[in-house]
Amino acid sequence: MVKIVCNTALMQKGLVKEAEGLVPEKDPETAAVYTNENSTGRCLLTLLGLAFILTGLIVGGACVYRYFIPKHKVYHGGMHYAEQGNIKPLNLETREPYYLPMIDEEMEIRDNVAIIKVPVPRFADTDPAAILHDFDRKLTAYLDLKLSNCYVIPLNTSVVMPPRDLLDLFIELMTASYNTYLIHEDLVVTERIDDITELGFYIYELCEGKDTYKMQRRNEIIGLQKRSAPTCLKIRHFENIFVTETNICKA
Ligand SMILES: *[C@@H]1O[C@H](CO)[C@@H](O)[C@H](O)[C@H]1NC(C)=O
Repeated sequence: MVKIVCNTALMQKGLVKEAEGLVPEKDPETAAVYTNENSTGRCLLTLLGLAFILTGLIVGGACVYRYFIPKHKVYHGGMHYAEQGNIKPLNLETREPYYLPMIDEEMEIRDNVAIIKVPVPRFADTDPAAILHDFDRKLTAYLDLKLSNCYVIPLNTSVVMPPRDLLDLFIELMTASYNTYLIHEDLVVTERIDDITELGFYIYELCEGKDTYKMQRRNEIIGLQKRSAPTCLKIRHFENIFVTETNICKA
């Protein structure tokens, strides 16, 4: 309806314009032209309104789309864990085991890289961290968010699930919660890395501008002198069906 009316009005306006072009001396303030101008004005307002609504719908739609389907989906997951190994792994609970400490994580997969964020823990004295597992470079980087230092070690594939399995685990964690156990790993800082560009794009992006160190597993270092008061930090995280406490010490 609106379309038809508008078309007619615009066509009339066009005809009037043409007439004006042909006879420029003609007074434009005639009754007929005035009526046409009036309806054309109303029509333009209607069109403007429609355009406005349409723009709103498009922008709104784009916002909703971006919100619900972001480019890289971030998954949230939590696991309850027992410090002593008296709880069997993969014990799926429907009831919240409130008496057990819990780790919450955010996980994101990009290309062949898993990026995990561990927020400030509620009870344990461990550090918040961003952990990056680069499956192409076969490297893991821990960014300690309290100290703002980066620590790099070869990726341990027996602890870290591959991206697809990790994704499945987080999808499972959306509907259930795990009661699991805690394992410990002892890592020792060996040397400072001055050129972090050789660690690949993702670790570079994570550790740029931070002091970055190489690490080794403690049991791989032969003849390591144990210092009386080593400076250590702890990060608790999971990238498998158990929670890992990573102990990082300056040798
Ligand atoms: C991977 O981690 C497990 C558990 O901490 C450990 O037993 C194993 O030696 C590690 N493997 C490598 C290659 O570091």
